[in-house]
Amino acid sequence: MPEQSGDPFAVAAASAAALAERTRQTQHDVAVVLGSGWAPAADALGPAECEVPLAELGGFPEPRVPGHVPAVRLVRIGGLRVLVFLGRVHLYEGHSPAAVVHGVRTAIAAGCATIVLSNAAGGIRSGLQPGQPVLISDHLNLTGQSPLTGLSLTGDGPSPFTDLTEVYSARLRTLARERDPELAEGVYAALPGPQYETPAEIRMLRTAGADLVGMSTVLEAIAARHLGAQVLGLSLVTNVAAGLSDQKLDHGDVLATARTAAARLGALLATILPEVG
Ligand code: HPA
Repeated sequence: MPEQSGDPFAVAAASAAALAERTRQTQHDVAVVLGSGWAPAADALGPAECEVPLAELGGFPEPRVPGHVPAVRLVRIGGLRVLVFLGRVHLYEGHSPAAVVHGVRTAIAAGCATIVLSNAAGGIRSGLQPGQPVLISDHLNLTGQSPLTGLSLTGDGPSPFTDLTEVYSARLRTLARERDPELAEGVYAALPGPQYETPAEIRMLRTAGADLVGMSTVLEAIAARHLGAQVLGLSLVTNVAAGLSDQKLDHGDVLATARTAAARLGALLATILPEVG
């Protein structure tokens, strides 16, 4: 599938219709995007009623990052119809913002009012430990891109001048902390990648108020808020950010840390999800 062109909402509506045909559901409630290393947590969410390769839905580019399986599952959790996206696509793979947020727009077109975004992140704030899940309280979009660029300012759709004062729902964060009182919160800074940061960049990010650093999530969160969906963000700290320890960063280590934490992450999601729909 070539990179999207034309009306991204029409493409999402077509993907949602193709999805509904395969899940045999006219309505879905919650979407979960499992980021780097979170995919092994999918099985802890329960059996899939069906699993659909994203390539069958149209509008999705082929992901090319090891560790990402391009499919979406339908899982019933506490009476909710949850769409679990196994993997996502990233700007650093050369994809457009529209391609990056296509899954979220498709999920919302399929009826989801709540979007749960997970990712792997480097820990900037001292005390954040590899293997630890952290609720995202806010973000710094340092990708230089927006999924809302170029949208009509005068058409029928929601205004692209989207309010971002509460991207990550305070209500959902409170619910998540009630389920797991040990959950820390932090501000997530997104850079375009794919290279990891320099120690100087990490010092800059810390001064700018970032607790976590990664290469995803923020464009999807913006796209979800533009369409009025509620967002819950969860980072898994896979490493201490560059220059804050004597370790060098290695993508294999990042994924290995995530795999080790997968069971805990799955259990965490399974306790939170029934509450958030
Ligand atoms: N930096 C950016 N992205 C990441 C990191 C990091 O340290 N760890 C996992 N994803």
